[in-house]
Amino acid sequence: MIPAETPKKLRLAILVGSKGRGSNLMNLLEASAAGEIPAEVSLVVSPVADNPASLFAHEKGVAVQVLSPKTEDYDSKLLDTLMEHKVDLVCLAGYMTLLPNIIVRRYSGKILNIHPALLPKFGGKGMYGVKVHEAVIEGKERESGATVHWVTERYDEGEIVIQIRCSVEPDDTPETLSQRVLACEHLAYRQAIRMVAGYD
Ligand code: GRF
Repeated sequence: MIPAETPKKLRLAILVGSKGRGSNLMNLLEASAAGEIPAEVSLVVSPVADNPASLFAHEKGVAVQVLSPKTEDYDSKLLDTLMEHKVDLVCLAGYMTLLPNIIVRRYSGKILNIHPALLPKFGGKGMYGVKVHEAVIEGKERESGATVHWVTERYDEGEIVIQIRCSVEPDDTPETLSQRVLACEHLAYRQAIRMVAGYD
């Protein structure tokens, strides 16, 4: 837990992927503006400048750092960016690769990820996006949901902070299930940030 020693708002960095749709970013910006989380979105890090997440952040006046994991010296550049923006908590939202070890160590206990299923099931390398929902339906699961967990040096293995569950309906397609899970994601990320800030 990040102790809320002072009433200061946690400074969040949201790390998104190249296709970054940005719904979790929008959710956290809304929650921050409404005073529902003791946090503000201080930075978005994205591999590209023109995905929906980056464009939305830009429109809202949030700093966007365009930085691809393929960039030379990516690890140190990312670390410098996070430090420069005095980030307290890193929130992954659709970030597709493993975070560099240097970041995981430096921000140990300060990096969250959101996964669109009930870990430890349906996680790990290659389990992302629609593949997760296809696997849940193929596995004839009766429930799915969202998991927020701490980030370690391995995919989807850190300690779980919170899970929010939803049903899997008999006529679900991966798309209909993903919409239901996305609503769980948005609740889960808000709740997780309140928890790690020591509010709930
Ligand atoms: C979410 O489904 C999240 O669980 C996964 O990537 C997706 C990001 O969605 N890790 P968005 O860009 O925040 O809408």
